[in-house]
Formats: sequence, structure tokens, C-alpha cells
Amino acid sequence: MKVIKLAEVDSTNNYAKSHIENLEDKTLVCADSQSSGRGRLNRSWVDLGVGNLFLSFVLKPSKSFQPFFPNLTQYLSVVLCKVLEFYGLKPQIKWPNDVLINGKKVAGILSESVISGGKFDGIVLGIGVNLKSTVDDVSSIEGRIVTALNIEGVEVSRDEFLDKLSVEFFKDYDKFLNSGFSFISDDYIKRNCFLNKELEVLVLNDKKCGFAKEVNKNGELVLISNDNCETVLTIGDIL
Ligand code: BTN
Repeated sequence: MKVIKLAEVDSTNNYAKSHIENLEDKTLVCADSQSSGRGRLNRSWVDLGVGNLFLSFVLKPSKSFQPFFPNLTQYLSVVLCKVLEFYGLKPQIKWPNDVLINGKKVAGILSESVISGGKFDGIVLGIGVNLKSTVDDVSSIEGRIVTALNIEGVEVSRDEFLDKLSVEFFKDYDKFLNSGFSFISDDYIKRNCFLNKELEVLVLNDKKCGFAKEVNKNGELVLISNDNCETVLTIGDIL
């Protein structure tokens, strides 16, 4: 595993994507700060200052794209939970891959497949973890209730957290590649905060409502509507 540490970039995902041809499998790109961090669904990822984690995993698991690669974000959410539990926290997962502490978002995960000239070059799996901030700064982030580890009572340096997260990630990575979502299904579901509840889920510009019945074997969210219709969601944002 190789780690590239940068001072400032627009986005570690952008850096990893634009250099992917020259980066080895399992390279980590980490930056002290990001000027244009990107989130899911075209949102931005706010830089809360020095001491926070901005990281992208460069992964080249095979020569062609496999259907379970999108589940890597769920694998990383479970990995992150295990690291947070090591520090005595009780994280929960909100489908598909948000990690919450005390109901507040502490991290975000963004996976991007890189395809050039019809050729699959690999995956850039980005994660931002709020390690250090202030109540004022996290409160100013729009659209989400956000927290940081120090606000939840855990002081940890960026480099220590990076080390623990990357070791935990690669511990079971090969097993995940062999089995896909089923490998993490139990670990994922036992930390969920959304099943057996009435949910509103924003899917692109469409709002889907229903009872959250299960996460199926592909990591998709299954909703049951009032008229007993089943909707299977592969992407979306629980409101
Ligand atoms: C989200 O919750 O919307 C996902 C946020 C992902 C943020 C990380 S920070 C490191 C990497 N670089 C980016 O530009 N985004 C991801």
C-alpha cells in the first residue's frame, strides 16, 4: 500500500482520477485541505480545516467493472464504523453509506468508476471524516446535521486515523472482492438506523415513500408502499 500525502488539492478524488493510469492498485491519496471537495449527488464536501481526513483509495480490483463494485461504499462504511467503535463511539449507518454518531453525520463516502476510451481503469473511493471542528462550524453546514469526532469526545490525529482506517480497510478487502455485499451484510445491517421505519427517499428528483423492509443481498433498499407495492432502490438519499 502506497500513501501520497498532499498539502492542498481541489479534491483528492479529482487528483486520483486524473493520475489513475500512473497510480498503483491500493494507492491512498490524502490531502491536508481540499478547495473543492465533492460529495454525492453533486453536493460539495466542506473542508472543516487542518486535522480532518480527506482521502481517496485508488483500487484496481479487475480489468473490467463488476456489478458489486458500487457496494464498496457500503464496505467502507462498515470499516469506518469498526474504527469508530475502537475509539468507544457507537456509529450507525444510514443507507447507503452515511455514517452517523448520535444521529449526526460524521463522514461522507463517494465512489467513482474511472473509464477512459471504453476501458475500465479502476475505482476511486473517497472518504471525508470530520475529526476536528467546532460546534459553530459544523452548524453552518447546510442541509445536514453534522458532527466531528472531537465534538463527540474523541481527540485523534489525522495520521493516526488514516493509519487505522487503511489497515482495517485492507484487512478484509480481498474477502469482500470474493463475495460482494453478502460478506458485509450482517455487519452492515446490525449498525443500521433506517430499517423498519417509514422513510422518504429522494431518488434523483423523485421522492419515494414507504416502509423500509430490508436491505437485499445486493445492498439495495427495499421499500413497501401503503398499497403493498415493493420498490427496490439502488441509489437515493434518505430524507
Ligand atoms: C457525501 O457524503 O456526499 C460524500 C462526501 C465525500 C467527501 C470525500 S473527501 C475526500 C474525497 N474527495 C472528494 O472530493 N470527495 C471525497
